[in-house]
Amino acid sequence: MERKEFKWPQPLAGNKPRIWYGGDYNPDQWPEEVWDEDVALMQQAGVNLVSVAIFSWAKLEPEEGVYDFDWLDRVIDKLGKAGIAVDLASGTASPPMWMTQTHPEILWVDYRGDVCQPGARQHWRATSPVFLDYALSLCRKMAEHYKDNPYVVSWHVSNEYGCHNRFDYSEDAERAFQKWCEKKYGTIDAVNDAWGTAFWAQRMNNFSEIIPPRFIGDGNFMNPGKLLDWKRFSSDALLDFYKAERDALLEIAPKPQTTNFMVSAGGAGIDYDKWGYDVDFVSNDHYFTPGEAHFDELAYSASLCDGIARKNPWFLMEHSSSAVNWRPINYRVEPGELVRDSLAHLAMGSDAICYFQWRQSKAGAEKWHSSMVPHAGPDSQIFRDVCELGADLNKLADEGLLSTKLVKSKVAVVFDYESQWATEHTATPTQEVRHWTEPLAWFRALADNGLTADVVPVRGPWDEYEAVVLPSLTILSEETTRRVREYVANGGKLFVTYYTGLVDDKDHVWLGGYPGSIRDVVGVRVEEFAPMGNGFGFPGAMDHLDLDNGTVAHDFADVITSVADTAHVVASFKADKWTGFDGAPAITVNDFGDGKAAYVGARLGREGLAKSLPVLLEELGIETSAEDDRGEVLRVERADETGENHFVFLFNRTHDVAVVDVEGEPLVASLAQVNESEHTAAIQPNGVLVVKL
Ligand code: GAL
Repeated sequence: MERKEFKWPQPLAGNKPRIWYGGDYNPDQWPEEVWDEDVALMQQAGVNLVSVAIFSWAKLEPEEGVYDFDWLDRVIDKLGKAGIAVDLASGTASPPMWMTQTHPEILWVDYRGDVCQPGARQHWRATSPVFLDYALSLCRKMAEHYKDNPYVVSWHVSNEYGCHNRFDYSEDAERAFQKWCEKKYGTIDAVNDAWGTAFWAQRMNNFSEIIPPRFIGDGNFMNPGKLLDWKRFSSDALLDFYKAERDALLEIAPKPQTTNFMVSAGGAGIDYDKWGYDVDFVSNDHYFTPGEAHFDELAYSASLCDGIARKNPWFLMEHSSSAVNWRPINYRVEPGELVRDSLAHLAMGSDAICYFQWRQSKAGAEKWHSSMVPHAGPDSQIFRDVCELGADLNKLADEGLLSTKLVKSKVAVVFDYESQWATEHTATPTQEVRHWTEPLAWFRALADNGLTADVVPVRGPWDEYEAVVLPSLTILSEETTRRVREYVANGGKLFVTYYTGLVDDKDHVWLGGYPGSIRDVVGVRVEEFAPMGNGFGFPGAMDHLDLDNGTVAHDFADVITSVADTAHVVASFKADKWTGFDGAPAITVNDFGDGKAAYVGARLGREGLAKSLPVLLEELGIETSAEDDRGEVLRVERADETGENHFVFLFNRTHDVAVVDVEGEPLVASLAQVNESEHTAAIQPNGVLVVKL
């Protein structure tokens, strides 16, 4: 796959490069009198960029073919003259009412045939030629009108593709799916083979017999090969739509462009790693996970985003200053978290910090969503924090942060969208195991051991790291298998867990014992699985297994029946004889070529992994930080190639005060007190310290 060349929005004429700071701005929700106050407050907060017109189609084209750019011209002019750059949307994220009334055939259809009606947003189907036509017309009008506008620094194409319209089961989609299959497989026999249609009389005679995975009755099981391709197709159909919109804009008005992804630990609607090849710069919307995983999940997701961006700077397009409005309970952020969360994205390679949204709405579906200027107005803690953050970002830019990138870790934790999709199917060994939880658990357990890992997509350069984790990476294609084998043979240090390498990229099982294609690399052979848990109403069913290293496995264990001569057992199960598990191998280490591979044959969770890791890190020869400060603080570094600009971000991961040694010059201290004479700092819960070495 060819990757678009990296391009980044440039500062307004006469301005120096800054960390972009701002958010979605919806002036069309407010009377014009408010705009002047907005601009003044933006200047006060250090805001230097806003994203405009994302959901403005009904105002930009109030009737078919009638366009009104006057209001947008006025607001862009006000912003630009005040030194605030504009990330301009294509405006096509949500169609106006007149369009859906004349063309109901653009609405998407769910798997039972129900049509998604207007009333919210994104009620369009990616495969509709009619909708594509309308969207491209608006893109071209926007491009014509704003191509020479000096204040528009980038294009924001549509918004969060697939957030509400990921799957569409319409007739348009059916035709497009058939074409997609024809392009991918060439012949219907190849599709039959890939989907294993010999099973349950599903053989097809020609491409017209291919239909989307529509309703099949509750409690029935969809063909998994077809389902996997359907997920690929749905991501690709949106990608094609996006590319058409992007190209329509760029042909007329070439400016750096992006579309906002939704990368988070558990989100996998779209293959964002594939999409990453088709943007000038990667941008992401991330909303915090309430509860104890808040900070770690954020750091993990930001690292994955950096991996998707292949270590080019990326743009945090949206996050929240406090509560969202779309969870059942919308928790506020704790004191300090507003600044800390933003700095964590920044540490992980983002060069732009933006929010949804600038001013909190008074009406509409998102009026209870936090913003930079809350309902309470500028005399509020949130706005004070927003101003503090603006000042911090300017300081870091002055000190040279923009010349730096996230420093490469020694450990890569691999993430794969397609493995996530495959584990979501029904009729799997257990519904309790999904790919995504395991990479997050490893990221956290490595952090508990003083190692900040990079999260690297499976297509990415993970084999260039000192150590690699394959965490429940269910799909190992032939290509990935080859890379894994070469990596270890050439001296790589590999960690592999249960549920890895079960199937190839057609979702066909690698035979002969698991993990089929890399059995000799890991030096174990798994004959059966032992899923666990009695949460689905089976009292007395096995729900955990103890290991002799003091950890406990839940949900899943492998039945390892043989261990190669080149391997040795590091931990075993301890269980009642009748279970068949007593003394059975649970964790092993194998020599393969010049490298080593550790195999973890059970789900140990973050805690069990953290406890098992010291021995494994030592066995594989991976050095980590001093024993005494392990885990309390997440240390993230950004540096330039010369090493002249080298920043260290220290985040307190706990709810206790963390005392750290301070090696360089403290630049930003949020909920952190530096003791200059002792060269230490006390970082409070939710606090962060940034130093320059
Ligand atoms: C995003 C979306 C924004 C806003 C935000 C609220 O998904 O792009 O428009 O809805 O969520 O959290």
